[in-house]
Amino acid sequence: MRRLKRRANYELQLQLKTDDFIAPPRPAQRNWLVNRALSELTWDLDAIHDLAARFVPGVEALLNHENDNDSAPEADDIMELWQLPIMQRMADCVSSSHGHVLEIGYGRGISAEMIQQGNVREHTIVECVPAIAQQCRDWARENGLNIHVLEGRWEDVQGELQTYDGIFFHTYPMDSEEYAEATRRSATLAEPFFPVAAKHLSNDGVFTYFSNEIDSLSRAHQRALFQEFARISIEPLCGLDIPEQVKDTWWIDQMMIVIASGPKK
Ligand SMILES: C[S@@+](CC[C@H](N)C(=O)[O-])C[C@H]1O[C@@H](n2cnc3c(N)ncnc32)[C@H](O)[C@@H]1O
Repeated sequence: MRRLKRRANYELQLQLKTDDFIAPPRPAQRNWLVNRALSELTWDLDAIHDLAARFVPGVEALLNHENDNDSAPEADDIMELWQLPIMQRMADCVSSSHGHVLEIGYGRGISAEMIQQGNVREHTIVECVPAIAQQCRDWARENGLNIHVLEGRWEDVQGELQTYDGIFFHTYPMDSEEYAEATRRSATLAEPFFPVAAKHLSNDGVFTYFSNEIDSLSRAHQRALFQEFARISIEPLCGLDIPEQVKDTWWIDQMMIVIASGPKK
């Protein structure tokens, strides 16, 4: 089967090489499925054409937080302040039940502070960089907070996790290999964590993460969520004060906030 879509700015060609690829009972059904997939790609291209016009240039500073792990990276290399409204919205979500919150990635401790302001009963933080984990423990001690700090990668401390009313996930790839792997295999950096979140989320709990989605969720992203959760709610957070010279790998003034619930156990 061959399909061709011509537009003023691009042309899409699709050739299905075998008859058993996308093979519903009737040919008309196959046509419908394939045409829809191609149409969706054109709609997506048109939409990202409009979004691209709003991008700031940013600077090449990929993985600027890569360090020797002995010292904490510079604050701006951990997280730039334009992300504050995202942190606040995510923190509000996970602290709304005032229960036990699991936070993955302490970073600058900004979201941790926001979660504390939400009067949560308990707060567990997983952090893999020893110097940052130490800053987390210092912050908790200096402020008399009862925070459980699990030092290590979330991949390695899963055996110590409990059940939580809110789960907040905000990490970044620690090196270029992890970055390449994450972008090649997943719709979003948090995707490999989805099964872990579902396993450790209470039945009426909420899970949120840094979505890396601009104005909607890709189908692959939604499908990955529905593998693990019964419900998702999504909302665009607009008006972010994104600097022209942003160092993060994000170049537009909005991001989707995702809240997943109803873990499938
Ligand atoms: C962007 S920062 C988090 C910023 C934080 N939300 C804040 O408000 O300051 C990401 C943090 O995740 C940590 N991290 C990265 N990969 C991790 C992993 N696999 N497990 C645990 N922590 C990780 C990094 O060391 C860093 O401290």
